Amino acid sequence: MAKRGKRDATDPVARIGELIAEIRHHDRLYHERDAAEISDPEYDALLAELQRLEAEHPELVDPDSPTQRVAGAPVPHLVSVEHRRPMLSLANTYSREEVEEWAASTLEFLGGDAGLAYTIEPKLDGVAIEAIYERGRLVRAITRGDGRVGDDVTHTARTIRGLPERLVGKAPALLEVRGEVIMTRASFAGVNTRREAAGEELFINPRNLASGTLKMLDPAAAAARPLDVLFYGLGETDGFEAATHQDVLAALEAHGLPTSAWLSVRGDLAHVLAHYDGLLERRDGLPFEVDGAVIKVDDHALQHRLGERSRSPRWAIAFKFPARQGTSVVRRIEVLVGRTGALTPRAVVEPVYVAGVTIEHVTLHNRDEIERLGVKVGDRVLIERAGDVIPKIVGVTKAGSGEPFVMPDTCPACATPVIDDAEEVVVRCPNRACPAVVRRRLSHFASRGALDIEGLGEKLVDQLVTAGLVARLSDLFALEEEQVAALERMGATSARNLMTALRRSRTRPFSRFLYGLGIRHVGAHVAEVIAETWRTLDDLRQADESALVDVSEIGPTVAESILAWLADDSEQADLDRMVALGVAPTAAATRSESGGVLSGRTFLFTGSLTKFSRREAHEMVKAAGGKLLSGVSKNLDVLVVGEKPGSKLKKAEELGVEVLDEDGFLALLTEQD
Ligand code: IVH
Repeated sequence: MAKRGKRDATDPVARIGELIAEIRHHDRLYHERDAAEISDPEYDALLAELQRLEAEHPELVDPDSPTQRVAGAPVPHLVSVEHRRPMLSLANTYSREEVEEWAASTLEFLGGDAGLAYTIEPKLDGVAIEAIYERGRLVRAITRGDGRVGDDVTHTARTIRGLPERLVGKAPALLEVRGEVIMTRASFAGVNTRREAAGEELFINPRNLASGTLKMLDPAAAAARPLDVLFYGLGETDGFEAATHQDVLAALEAHGLPTSAWLSVRGDLAHVLAHYDGLLERRDGLPFEVDGAVIKVDDHALQHRLGERSRSPRWAIAFKFPARQGTSVVRRIEVLVGRTGALTPRAVVEPVYVAGVTIEHVTLHNRDEIERLGVKVGDRVLIERAGDVIPKIVGVTKAGSGEPFVMPDTCPACATPVIDDAEEVVVRCPNRACPAVVRRRLSHFASRGALDIEGLGEKLVDQLVTAGLVARLSDLFALEEEQVAALERMGATSARNLMTALRRSRTRPFSRFLYGLGIRHVGAHVAEVIAETWRTLDDLRQADESALVDVSEIGPTVAESILAWLADDSEQADLDRMVALGVAPTAAATRSESGGVLSGRTFLFTGSLTKFSRREAHEMVKAAGGKLLSGVSKNLDVLVVGEKPGSKLKKAEELGVEVLDEDGFLALLTEQD
C-alpha cells in the first residue's frame, strides 16, 4: 500500500475511515481463494497504523473498528444462549446407494418432480456457529451447543479475520447466518510448531483446536490462533429473501460473508455425485479439512415442503468421506526386533475399523515418537490411515492410568544388552545370531522384491530357524530335501517345491540379490542404482569409497554402510559360501543396452495405483529403459499419479513436472519410438 502524505497526519478522522475501509476490504478478500491483494505483514501494518491513530485519538474509536475485534476484554465464563431457531444436524451416510435412496424418497415425498436440482458443497470439519447480524452489525456469535442452546462466543469469534463486524451493502434487519469455524491446515501446523518449540502439548487436529480456541475466555489468547469461518446456511432472518440455496450463498458472499461457494455446484443427482468424487479426490489438497459433502435440495419452497424429521431436515444429507480416523485403546506396547536389530515399539490396540481395514497394531517407530505422543498403555488414542496406508497414532484422546513406556535394555528376543544409537534415535540388538534378527533377515531375503523364494514364508522360516537348520543366509542353499521334508507339516512335495524355488532363486538379478542381503540403507532403489554401476557381485566387492560416492544417487550414509558391509568378515564369508553353493546373481541389462521407449526419462509414482501394482509399474519403467527417482525434484520428468495423490503432486505442479494418470502412463509405453 502506498504511503499517504500529510493529509493523514492532519486529518485523523479521514485516515481512520480510510484504514477501516481498506482493512475490511482485505478481510473480505482474505477468504476468496488466492484473492489476497496484500501480504500478511502489509495487512498487519495497516492494522498497526489504525491502532496507533486510535490510541492518539481515543474519542475517534469506532466500536466497529477492526482493532476492537482483537482487543476485546476476557469474559469471566461462557454464557448459554438459546438459538431463535434450533440448529439441526444432518442425516449422514457413507454409501452412494443410501444417497440415491434419499433422493428417491425426496422425490416421492414431493410427488415425483423429475427435475429436482440439488446443490453439493463440502462438509467442513470444524465447529458449527451462528453469527447474528442486526441491521448489518455483528451482535452475537453462538456455538451450536446441543442445537437448542449454545455458548456465547462473540468475544472469540470477533478475532476471526474473515468474520465481518459489519455487512456490506443494504443489510437486512436481521440475518442469522450459520456456518463452520475452521482452522486451515497451514494455521494448524503453525500453531503446533510454535507449541512444540515451547515444549507444550500438541493439538490433535484442526477441529479440536478450533473448538478449544472458540471457547477460550480471553480473546487476546484466541487471536494468536488464527481461525476462519465459512457460512452455508441461515437461521432466523428479517428482510432477507432468497429462493434457492445457491442464492443464499451468493447473497452471503455479496454481504461480505465468506462461504465455500467456490467448492459448490448445482445440478441433478448424477452431476452432484460426480462432484462428490471430485471433492474426494481433491480432499488432501484443500486448505482445510473436509470430511464429506452435503447434498441439499436447492429450492427453498421445496425445502419448506419437505420439512424436518426429528433432528435433521429431509432436504439435506451428508455424504461422508470414508473415515480415515478412529479411536481405540492401547492394550500393550510390544517391542519388535527388525532385521537390522533395531528395536521398534508398536502399540497393540483394541481392533478398530478404519478406512476399510481392521487395525490391531500401530507402529510407534521409536522411543522419541512415544515421548512425543505421550502414549501409555490404557490410553485411548486417535488412529489415522491417511494417504499412505500405514496406520499411525495421531495423539492421545483420553489418558488411561498406565505407566510410561520404557524401552527395554535387553533384546526381547535374545536378552543381549541393547546398544543405544542416540544419533539415529534407534536402539539395536547387536547380536547377529539373535533369532529375531535371523528370522527377519531370512524373510526379507526370500521376499518377492528380493530372491522371491516361493513357499518360504514367515512360518517356514520360523520352523527352519527353530529346527536349527538355518542360522545365516547361506544355510538356505545348503538345505537338503530330506531335512525339509522331515519338518512338521511339510510333505515330500512341499520339500521338493522349496528345493526348486531355491534353485531358481540362485540366478535372480543382481539388484534383487543385493536388496535381499539387507544392507542398511540399501533399499530396492539404491540396489538398482548399484547394480547398474557394478554389474556383478565381484565388481562390487572391488568398489572403494570414492567410486561409491561418485554415483549420483549414493550419498555418504549409503556409501559408508556399503563399505562397512564389504569390510565385515562374517558377511563376506557368508557371501563366499553362497557363491560356493551355486548362487550366481545375473547382471541386469543396462539402460543403454535396452534402449526402450522411456529411455533416458525419469519417473516417480504416487498415490494408490489401481491399474497395476507399484512393483509392476517400476518394472515397466525399467524394462522400457526409464529410470525411477525417489522424490520430486527438477530432475524428475514424469510424475504418475494414482488415486489420492498427496504432497508430491503439488510439488511436481510447482516445479512444472509433467503429470500423468495411470492411463497416460500406459499410453506412453505403447508409443512408438
Ligand atoms: S447444513 C440443517 N452444510 O455438519 C442442516 N452443515 O452433521 C444444517 N456442516 O451441524 C447443516 N459443513 O456443523 C451444512 N456445508 C455444510 C456443512 C455443515 C459442515 C456441519 C454442521 C452440522 C453438521 C451436521
